Amino acid sequence: MPFSRRDFVKTSVVGALATGVGAQASLASNLGGNGWPSQDSSNASQSGSFKRPIIVCANNGYAHLEDAFVFLKGGGDTLDAALKVVKGPEDDPKDDSVGLGGLPNEEGVVELDACCMHGPTRRAGSVGGVRNIKNVSLVSNAVMQHTGHVMLVGEGAERFAVAMGFPRENLLTEHSRKIWLLWKEFHSTDDWWGPGLADPHWPPPASKTTSDKPQAELREDRIRNLQARAADLGIPPELQLAAVRTVLFPPTGTIHCSALNDKGEISGCTTTSGLAFKLSGRCGDSPIIGAGCYTDQDVGSAGATGSGEENIKVAGAHTIVENMRHGMSPQEAGLDALKRIVRNYNGDLNRLRFIDMTYYILRKDGAYAGVSLWEGYSKGNPHKIAIHDGTHRAEVAVNLLKGYSQEFPPFPEIPEDLKKDSEYLK
Ligand code: GLY
Repeated sequence: MPFSRRDFVKTSVVGALATGVGAQASLASNLGGNGWPSQDSSNASQSGSFKRPIIVCANNGYAHLEDAFVFLKGGGDTLDAALKVVKGPEDDPKDDSVGLGGLPNEEGVVELDACCMHGPTRRAGSVGGVRNIKNVSLVSNAVMQHTGHVMLVGEGAERFAVAMGFPRENLLTEHSRKIWLLWKEFHSTDDWWGPGLADPHWPPPASKTTSDKPQAELREDRIRNLQARAADLGIPPELQLAAVRTVLFPPTGTIHCSALNDKGEISGCTTTSGLAFKLSGRCGDSPIIGAGCYTDQDVGSAGATGSGEENIKVAGAHTIVENMRHGMSPQEAGLDALKRIVRNYNGDLNRLRFIDMTYYILRKDGAYAGVSLWEGYSKGNPHKIAIHDGTHRAEVAVNLLKGYSQEFPPFPEIPEDLKKDSEYLK
């Protein structure tokens, strides 16, 4: 079945590109109201007081909020509460964005980043590029508590973790290994990875006939071939399309959590396996104090998930906390940080559509907001934040730009007939 034209142009961005509208013009059409969204729909816009205690986190922490909230309400420390939330996904082999089962780097090795900040004592800890230790959020806490440093990286961080009693283990699950192998074989044109000449699945180099095919057909072929390779690698049918999407759009999964108690003490932490298939040694924003996480006991706390390189350049979490210090609401503060990312690309949607960013923001009085650059990765999958303030819920983040991001590399919608049984679409 051919690609659906209707699906392909369903976002304003892609529509603008398809009609040849210039980047600045298309940016204007992607903004709400008179330009940037002005309506503040976060709870900070409501008059009156806000609820405390409260925990705010990325939506992949949703299932772990209840226990952490009970702990916090019972007098538990704010950082310990936040760490309880993020430890859940770190321990979960099915969450391929953090800890055990995280997607590996280009060499097939899982490398993790994390940081934490404890508001009441104004301390911070961080680790980057750590191998073989799944609970790196706790290791960042140990750096904070048991060293005079703030950041440890690589082998030194791993040896420190072992000295602190963290067990070494293989973090690469079979499922993540197969996805990495699919990625490796897909990108292998000039080396010996993938089926050889004698293999019935050997893909011949693109012929003249093939290269004359319309782009849409070539892309469709590419998805079908990838799905066939996924089947050969033993990826179960219901997970094949998700694996294909991961190969085509390497994700930057992460979890951030901020926690505030009834005394107004506040802390935050962020943990990740980082950008899938990254270069070995790449550190994203998550372990960078002020980018992936920042907490100031006088003001509040913020954290990020999304394109780490972009967030580092705007010092996102620190920018947001400073914005709140100077009077912005949590939502205004977050949208301002997103605008700085847009500014860094002069509003060029041809580039911005390959970037995504969500900020999780909690002010010291209990006001909070979730903001994102785009509505979500795809229609029906909006960016969400999870909250517990006595009521356990998820809320859709307020987006700066209308439409859906397409992560790198660019690729159109997946054909309808391949969407069947896809985990990704659930
Ligand atoms: N935000 C996670 C990363 O880019 O590594």
